[in-house]
Amino acid sequence: MDPILNPYAPGAGTQPPELAGRDQVREAIRISLARTRLGKPTKSVILIGLRGVGKTVLLDRMREDAESEGIHTLRIEAPENRSLPSLLAPQLRLGLLRLSRNERAKSLAERALRGLSGFAKALKVKYDDIEVGFDFEPEPGLADNGDLEHDLQALLEVVGEAAKKGETALIMFIDELQYVPENELAFLITALHRCAQRSLPIAMVGAGLPQLRGKMGKAKSYAERLFDYPEIGSLEEEDARLALSQPAKDEGVAFEKGALDQIIAETKCYPYFLQEWGKHVWDVAVESPITRNDASAASVISIAALDESFFRVRFDRLTPLEKRYLRAMAELGQGPHRSGDVAQQLCREVTSLAPVRNQLINKGMIYSPSHGDTAFTVPLFDEYMKRIMPGDEWKAA
Ligand SMILES: Nc1ncnc2c1ncn2[C@@H]1O[C@H](COP(=O)(O)OP(=O)(O)OP(=O)(O)O)[C@@H](O)[C@H]1O
Ligand SMILES: [Mg+2]
Repeated sequence: MDPILNPYAPGAGTQPPELAGRDQVREAIRISLARTRLGKPTKSVILIGLRGVGKTVLLDRMREDAESEGIHTLRIEAPENRSLPSLLAPQLRLGLLRLSRNERAKSLAERALRGLSGFAKALKVKYDDIEVGFDFEPEPGLADNGDLEHDLQALLEVVGEAAKKGETALIMFIDELQYVPENELAFLITALHRCAQRSLPIAMVGAGLPQLRGKMGKAKSYAERLFDYPEIGSLEEEDARLALSQPAKDEGVAFEKGALDQIIAETKCYPYFLQEWGKHVWDVAVESPITRNDASAASVISIAALDESFFRVRFDRLTPLEKRYLRAMAELGQGPHRSGDVAQQLCREVTSLAPVRNQLINKGMIYSPSHGDTAFTVPLFDEYMKRIMPGDEWKAA
């Protein structure tokens, strides 16, 4: 098929041609944000899911949904090793400058911008990565104490007041939230809690890996009750079929049932893989309909492509011991596995491997679906580990 017309979109954060199976959660968020805007009690939402399930694209789509209803949004991606105030400040500034164009909100938005100037100046000592333009002189006493807990709360409160006056809401969309340090997360939760108590229209929609849930709870014990945590995972089979067939149909191309069946089985309905397989099967096929033979040929190419990119970048970030740990897990199969069984593979004590297990969790390679269990964060990674580290040399130290 003409590669120029190939509709599929494998990648990180690249919008799929058909965002399948997410209507319910989108609708839930739409309602929740509309309620926030009206000052009605609702919970902030955190999308929880493994790598490549579509958290980022969903977050972006929800943000578009909100903007189309006149809600103001901020978009932040937390990288490793950046402070929360340094990420928030420039985005809040943009949001407030936009809000200040709303006649009703103008004077309060400008006050919030003063607050932001004071906030950034006072916190610059502790968080030297804060870089933000100053539009107004600080207002003495407003968000300028120099401690994040107090200042963030004061700042979000004035921002919320401005949004309320403008009859809108300000929603912070924060991706990769698990990278925000625990104490900063705690302050953010406190500030949001305070705003919710005051019925101010400001809230967060976050996204992150499964460990985020526990991290939120550790940061603030009441976080469990303040947030909803919808789980974003592999698609239902019917939705996965749609994710593949609809984009082709839009280009006048059909799939034979056998071809779809095979791709569904191999990708395990995992969103990233659906795009990867879709892309290759399109390029392989000569004419419509796409056949099972096309699917088989595409499968070989897709796995090779994953080995070269998706799996490879993850593998390259590992230390030798981390690689051995994952290889030992792979030996046991797809998982989840008991930590004790993994340790046994390496002839080591569980406790001596706890640090490496923690590092792997922090790197987003594995997660703990339940206490004492360990699982890969992406499907098919076990098979990759066996391909890249064949034999049993990994067993010896
Ligand atoms: N609902 C969906 N239907 C079809 N394809 C999807 C869907 N959601 C995501 N995808 C595709 O899956 C891939 C991964 O999406 P995305 O980058 O949003 O995942 P993620 O969960 O943010 O991953 P990471 O944790 O690595 O950041 C993209 O190629 C995207 O187009
Ligand atoms: Mg993402």
